[in-house]
Amino acid sequence: MKKNRFDFEKMKESEEKIVFLTSYDYPTATFAEKAGVDMILVGDSLGMCVYGYNGTIPVTMDQCIVHCRAVRRGAPNTFVIGDMPFMSYQESLEKAVFNAGRFLKEAEVDAIKLEGGRKVAKQIQVIVDAGILVMGHIGLTPQSSGQLGGFKAQGRTAETATALFEDAKAVERAGAFSVLLEAIPPEVGKIITENLKIPCLSIGAGIHCDGQLLIVSDMLGVFEAFTPKFVKKYANLAEVITKAMTEFANDVRERHFPESKHTYNMVEGELKKFEDLLIKKCLLKKCEKKGLS
Ligand code: KIV
Repeated sequence: MKKNRFDFEKMKESEEKIVFLTSYDYPTATFAEKAGVDMILVGDSLGMCVYGYNGTIPVTMDQCIVHCRAVRRGAPNTFVIGDMPFMSYQESLEKAVFNAGRFLKEAEVDAIKLEGGRKVAKQIQVIVDAGILVMGHIGLTPQSSGQLGGFKAQGRTAETATALFEDAKAVERAGAFSVLLEAIPPEVGKIITENLKIPCLSIGAGIHCDGQLLIVSDMLGVFEAFTPKFVKKYANLAEVITKAMTEFANDVRERHFPESKHTYNMVEGELKKFEDLLIKKCLLKKCEKKGLS
C-alpha cells in the first residue's frame, strides 16, 4: 500500500529508515516499486542523467511533468515527489503555487520538492496553504551551485552549520512535511535530524538521518560523467549495457542475428504464390534485367 506523510512521521518516531531513490522513467519506476522503495523523487537531476546537460539549470517544467507522468505510471503505489526546476518557484509566489499545482494536476505526484531554506520559506508556505505537500532541500542545492562556488559540501564550519540548522527550522516552520539534507557532515545531519519533528532525508548527510536518498543513475552505475563522494555503486550497468550492445553489433556484422527463432513464418504455400504474383506484375529485379518491365 502507498505510504503517506503520516507513515513517514511514524517511521521517524519508530526509527525505521525511509528508503528513497530517484527515477525518471517508467521501467525504472516499476523496478523501484517492486524493490519496495518508500519514496521516489523525479529529480531535476534528470537534466544530467537523462538529457546530458552540465547541470540542472536548463531543465523545464514541461520536461519534469513528462518524466513524473512516466514514473507515476510505473509506480502507482509508491509516494512520488516532483522536483521543481530552476525558476519555476523563485520568480513569484503566484508562479510557485501555479507550477507546484501543475505537478499534482498533470502528473498526479504526491508532493513537490524545492531547494532552499529561509530564502524560500514564503514559497513553501504558500504552496502548503494551497494544499500541496512540500519537501524542503538544504545544504548543497545544485540550482544555486554558482553561489555556493560549485558542487561542494556545506555546513563544515560552526557558522555555516548554524545557518543550515536555521534553514532546516525555517523549512519546518513553513509547513514542509520533510526536508532533504544534501552533502553535509554526518554530525550536522544528526543534530538537525534530532531537532526537527519532520523526517530528515539524507543524500550525503550521514547515517543518522531518517532516510537515505541516492540518484538511481549513480547507484546503478549508469551515469559516468562524475560520481559524488556520497554515492555507493550497487551495480555497473554502464558496463553491462555497453557489453550487450557490442555483442549485438558483432552479431549483426557477422550475420549471427537474427536467427530463425527471431523471425516470422509465411503461411504454408504462400511464398510460391507471392513470387508468382510479383513475376506476373513484373516487379522483380530479374524482370528488369530481361527488359520485361
Ligand atoms: O534532482 C535531484 O535528484 C535532487 C538530488 C540531487 C537531491 O534534487
